[in-house]
Amino acid sequence: MLVLLLLLRVEPALPTATVPEHSSQWMRRLALADADPAPCDAQCQDAQRRALSQLFAAWSGPAWTRRANWLSPDVPVCAWEGVVCCGGPTAEQGGGDAGGGEAACAGKGEGGVLGLSLAGNNLTGDVTAAVAWGALATLRVLEVDGNRLYGSLSRWCAAGGGGGLAALPRLRYLGLAANQLTGGLAEVAGWGGAGAGPASLPPQLGSGSVPAPPGPASSGARVPAAAALSAGARRSLAAGLGAAGGGPPVLTALLAAGNRLGGPLPVGLMRQPALQYLDLSGNSLTGPLPAELFAGAAANRLRSVRLAGNQLGGPLPELPEGADVAAELNHLDISRNRLEGPLPPYLARLASLSYLDASHNVLLSGPVAPLLRPLAPLLAALSTLMLRNNSLGGTLPAVLRGPQLQYLDLAFNNLTGNFPSTVIPQLHAAWSG
Ligand SMILES: *[C@@H]1O[C@H](CO)[C@@H](O)[C@H](O)[C@H]1NC(C)=O
Ligand SMILES: *[C@@H]1O[C@H](CO)[C@@H](O)[C@H](O)[C@H]1NC(C)=O
Ligand SMILES: *[C@@H]1O[C@H](CO)[C@@H](O)[C@H](O)[C@H]1NC(C)=O
Repeated sequence: MLVLLLLLRVEPALPTATVPEHSSQWMRRLALADADPAPCDAQCQDAQRRALSQLFAAWSGPAWTRRANWLSPDVPVCAWEGVVCCGGPTAEQGGGDAGGGEAACAGKGEGGVLGLSLAGNNLTGDVTAAVAWGALATLRVLEVDGNRLYGSLSRWCAAGGGGGLAALPRLRYLGLAANQLTGGLAEVAGWGGAGAGPASLPPQLGSGSVPAPPGPASSGARVPAAAALSAGARRSLAAGLGAAGGGPPVLTALLAAGNRLGGPLPVGLMRQPALQYLDLSGNSLTGPLPAELFAGAAANRLRSVRLAGNQLGGPLPELPEGADVAAELNHLDISRNRLEGPLPPYLARLASLSYLDASHNVLLSGPVAPLLRPLAPLLAALSTLMLRNNSLGGTLPAVLRGPQLQYLDLAFNNLTGNFPSTVIPQLHAAWSG
């Protein structure tokens, strides 16, 4: 199979299904894991109802595809379609994006709102419109992907009269993909304490606060149910998330692909104390990749970073020789940018990296061999390496030993020599000199 594929410039079948762990369903589940219904007294109920009514008006509610019960005076907001007031069981049912938790929440319909599941619902409007976000302070999941929301993300994030998103201290999951948001990321980057690394976190958010990353061997396994998160993980999630304190959100997932966001990637974004999933693909970001993206455990908690299709440029950052590298980074897509210069040797030390796509950065140059040394930690975990359409040169190592390696695409580069003789049974490869 390998030999045949090498004869042609193969379009390898891309791994279309992403690792389940990186699915939005998994992330939502994480954000809602063990969320007890938040208490919400009558005054809180009124305030929630007012805020949601404002939101409905500001975002063209009457034109929404799914809007059952919205604004009904006799129906608690927890039974409005897409409003989620229950934790685990709701996430568990998964069925569609419409919350679907009403049954599981029966009898608890008066709680604080934990999630708004309004993806693909024909929402149209300005995200900075006046909505009393502060009245929804129990919100953990805000999901509005695939709508027609516009306006400045920075202004929406800033604390303002209604509080903006900064008034949501428990927000963990922010899904904004495929809208028309503008502005930059400086405000979001300021959340979680400017410059605060995990080292300065309270113990419950320190190591152990996130479920153990599945090792390479289990990365294809089914997503464990939220209930199967380790007891320690659940405890610490509950402790970390349940704190009633104020302050801006401490995000676990920021998913804003396919908008019109611009400006640089702020260092503060990399250093968010709990951020694990970052997707900013298909925006208009400029400037270099911050070194903090690749730097050691003290710098970030990132597991999945998708930045494809922006205008990021310059060389990949340098790290001091022998510096600690990001131990949890598992998925990195920096393809279709304007990155240039050599592939830095520290990439080969990213021991958790299983997916690296740096294709279509025409100026990435230098030898590729250091990444593919048989004993590099990178190769132990890597399942996908896409470096298509760069200017990489040199020869490949004679032996390629990647126990997980399935997709290797080095086509449209400047490589010379022979393909390694060692055949990896599961490998699909595309390579041309
Ligand atoms: C979506 O909303 C717009 C108004 O904001 C409306 O004109 C359009 O008909 C709606 N589309 C659908 C499919 O309901
Ligand atoms: C290589 O990338 C450039 C843009 O960076 C693109 O225009 C070109 O079509 C790509 N070539 C191939 C063979 O994919
Ligand atoms: C490929 O290598 C040749 C010879 O080393 C060099 O002249 C050429 O500029 C390289 N092309 C690219 C696109 O890097």
